[in-house]
Amino acid sequence: GEDILSDHNIPYPAVIAHRGASIVAPESTRPAYEIARETGADYFEADVQMTADGELIIFHDETLERTSNVEEVFPDRINDEIGEFTLEELRQLDYGSWFNEANENYADENYEGLDILTLDELIDIAKAGSHTPGLILETKHPEKYDGIEQEIVNILEERNWLEEEGFEKTIFFSFSLSSLRKFKELVPDKPRLLLITDNRISRRSWNNWLEYSSEIADGLGPKGFMAWPWHIAAAHENKKFVFPYTINYLWQIRTLAHFQASGFITDRPEVVLGFLDRL
Ligand code: G3P
Ligand code: CA
Repeated sequence: GEDILSDHNIPYPAVIAHRGASIVAPESTRPAYEIARETGADYFEADVQMTADGELIIFHDETLERTSNVEEVFPDRINDEIGEFTLEELRQLDYGSWFNEANENYADENYEGLDILTLDELIDIAKAGSHTPGLILETKHPEKYDGIEQEIVNILEERNWLEEEGFEKTIFFSFSLSSLRKFKELVPDKPRLLLITDNRISRRSWNNWLEYSSEIADGLGPKGFMAWPWHIAAAHENKKFVFPYTINYLWQIRTLAHFQASGFITDRPEVVLGFLDRL
């Protein structure tokens, strides 16, 4: 697996902070990414969506309810999709207090009132530390946001991000092969990974995924407990890397390291980096 990643100039094994260090800080917010960066994660994983006024924001869910105080600020819009809000409206919400209520152990008063991040701000955070992690940008529900791939590439170009030095600083993820195809047309050199939601992936269906994605994706992202040695070996034979998600427990990390997974998408980068002796 190492040679496949080195062809793409991606560190092996890649440690990917899923929505930032999202066990210890509210997902997709500034402190979650700052902690991931300072811990030494190789990549930020970030879900990208688009506001009603065309701004790119980092947010996972389709609605605001789970990770904001939308019910206080816009009580009649709890079920509205995030793409129906303008950036100015989204900036009125608090994206941290829900976390303090849900996680006594990691609650922190600095998390109260956290703002939503734009892609532009995420780039600032990546650049502001002692090392610059790469960005793994996942297009979330891309079928709802016509032109989101072009918009993402525009921002990366404006910020000169695509020329960042060192290892490969840009990887695209999606559950949508057609979204990855658009990235291939726009920036053919940047690696792309197809995410897979299946709960069981038989040999036949894994081979089908490899075949289905072969021209478009450089890697596959199965659910973590699904990645067995033969999945990984078959991917490697096809020159594809494998980043399983979401790998938070030591037993999973140990097992997948043994299976030579190409990287770890994790809510706990400090645990993976500790296991790899990289803290
Ligand atoms: O990056 C892989 C993983 O993030 C895909 O699932 O739902 O967390 O975006 P989800
Ligand atoms: Ca994601």
